[in-house]
Amino acid sequence: MEKIKSKISYRKKIIIFIIIMSIIVSLGLLILTIVKDRTYHSTPDYKPDDNKTINTLVIYFSRSGHTKNIAKIIAYRFQADLVEITAKAYSLDFEGWNNAITDAENKNAAVIEPETVDMSNYDLIFLGSPIWLFRPSPPIWTFVEKNQFQGKKVVLFNTFKSHFKAEAIETFKALVEKQGGQFIDHIYVRRGRVYYQKNDQTILEEINTQLDQKEQQWLDLID
Ligand SMILES: Cc1cc2nc3c(=O)[nH]c(=O)nc-3n(C[C@H](O)[C@H](O)[C@H](O)COP(=O)(O)O)c2cc1C
Repeated sequence: MEKIKSKISYRKKIIIFIIIMSIIVSLGLLILTIVKDRTYHSTPDYKPDDNKTINTLVIYFSRSGHTKNIAKIIAYRFQADLVEITAKAYSLDFEGWNNAITDAENKNAAVIEPETVDMSNYDLIFLGSPIWLFRPSPPIWTFVEKNQFQGKKVVLFNTFKSHFKAEAIETFKALVEKQGGQFIDHIYVRRGRVYYQKNDQTILEEINTQLDQKEQQWLDLID
């Protein structure tokens, strides 16, 4: 009897130990994810010079800065004007993350600033956003819904950690086209999950390679 009791209590101890270790590992991973998500080296501030070949506008939403960096690289390449869309609800704290998940899941519209942008002077528009729950984040959908894109060629660019759904990009394309634009391409950077995230140099090289491959095709589409 004594032996059985001590066996049970030994098992209990092992189970408690495993539970405690799992909690510690999960907390560690959560902290690592949060720290990693906030760790990026911002590219230098960008201002267009007068050597524009075409009139390009880069509009983006970025919660934690990764999409913003890509937006600046694209803007630099095209000497484009750059507009950041902000959304107070998606602040970098837990409340912002919770709002982000809730709105992404329910496909809710976002409260954004600015809501509209005068695009009359531009031929090529880049729209940038992180991927939230496998689709572009709510602020960029809201922006498209609130603006007209008649006569504009539109390229969507996204950053994300692991994957997005192709159907979501098709739905986004349909929305751009409903608003009068011509959706000509989708480019993206898969940053990688927490353990094997790409460094800034690799990301920069990746986006520049895509731009090298596609820039001329896009320019050829502009009258
Ligand atoms: C609410 C939320 C949902 C996310 N969902 C996905 C997802 O479905 N797939 C993915 O690969 N990454 C997902 N991510 C990771 C972001 O897409 C990724 O970190 C992105 O580069 C962040 O861009 P930002 O720094 O411009 O905000 C999600 C992040 C958040 C905050």
